[in-house]
Amino acid sequence: GKAFKVAVLPGDGIGPEVMAEALKVLDAVEKRYDVTFERTHANVGGAGIDQEGKALPETTVNICKASDAILFGSVGGPKWETLPPDEQPERGALLPLRKIFGLYANLRPAIIFPSLTAASSLKEEVIAGGFDILVIRELTGGIYFSQPKGIEGAGRERVGVDTMRYSVPEIERIAHVAFQAAQKRGKKVCSIDKANVLSTSVLWREIVIGVAKQYPDVELSHMYVDNAAMQLVKWPKQFDVILCENMFGDILSDEAAMLTGSLGMLPSASLAEGTFGMYEPSGGSAPDIAGQGIANPIAQILSAGMMLRYSFGMIEAADAIDNAVAKVLDQGYRTRDIYQESAGLKLVNTKEIGDAIIANL
Ligand code: NAD
Ligand code: IPM
Ligand code: MN
Repeated sequence: GKAFKVAVLPGDGIGPEVMAEALKVLDAVEKRYDVTFERTHANVGGAGIDQEGKALPETTVNICKASDAILFGSVGGPKWETLPPDEQPERGALLPLRKIFGLYANLRPAIIFPSLTAASSLKEEVIAGGFDILVIRELTGGIYFSQPKGIEGAGRERVGVDTMRYSVPEIERIAHVAFQAAQKRGKKVCSIDKANVLSTSVLWREIVIGVAKQYPDVELSHMYVDNAAMQLVKWPKQFDVILCENMFGDILSDEAAMLTGSLGMLPSASLAEGTFGMYEPSGGSAPDIAGQGIANPIAQILSAGMMLRYSFGMIEAADAIDNAVAKVLDQGYRTRDIYQESAGLKLVNTKEIGDAIIANL
């Protein structure tokens, strides 16, 4: 059978708890599909700081470079928030990983599972019949990375500086990802910007319109980000692919996640040119529930499924994972974040829902 090398970076907080369940799912896939996932564990984030003195140790980077994909948990937490910003887990590890590996295309599918409509924060009549939104977020540019950046000056004279830049090639390549994804699904792209205020957005809109000419079968629309935030909660079904720059995509993807019931449901794929990718839940290390064994592992498990789909070309196994998750939700298994008191629902912990998903694979 085939063999793939996976760098496993559980990170902090609930990261290791939900990662354990995703690894159990990979074990089950190995048994069923004649494939081997050669896994190498490495420290990242707070775990990197505590174990090796750095959020992103050299050893971790090298393990990732020697792998076909990275399976990432989450990083960050109160313990490391007083370190200098560039040494903290987020800016010291997660953002550099995205940059080092050229992971410019972040795919965050927000799909409402039929049996979870009651867990959504929206009224049933708004989500009846479901919705299926793919947020495509530019991940290596914009205000997260552009220079200059930092706090200048001293005392009360200090000024915090962030810069937002986008080049034509950066916009073009993420626009192509969005149009190509739309061709395989609802054939609509809604490009989000703030072209009434931001120069990056004026250029963004112009370039996206140009790229759209190569995809005449895809319908392109534009929406200001403030309106998009409103439209998402008003009528999510109007959206197919949502194309965003880095920070707008960060914010709108958390919003879209909650429409599906919980941030713990939303997986993500961060893709480079070629087949390399990093796969991680869209949410964070959830310090408020870490260590209790109650986190929802579904985002991490679905992220592992995206790894099979996008980096390893294992479409059948990826579909099997998605279906197993849907079945377990149909059977009424719920972690606390998606639980409602109602007949037939079973409140379970992280490990129990992981076991149920494997039993349905
Ligand atoms: P968060 O996503 O960690 O948590 C927000 C809320 O969602 C919390 O109430 C949490 O309990 C809940 N939640 C998130 N994932 C869940 C899951 N799987 N199951 C059940 N509930 C879940 O965001 P935050 O509280 O703003 O940030 C906490 C830390 O995580 C910070 O250090 C932040 O920088 C970091 N963070 C990391 C990543 C990442 O590593 N990719 C992403 C976002 C935030
Ligand atoms: C995410 C997270 C990160 C981001 C943080 C932790 C740097 O919120 O992956 O959505 O803003 O990209
Ligand atoms: Mn985020």
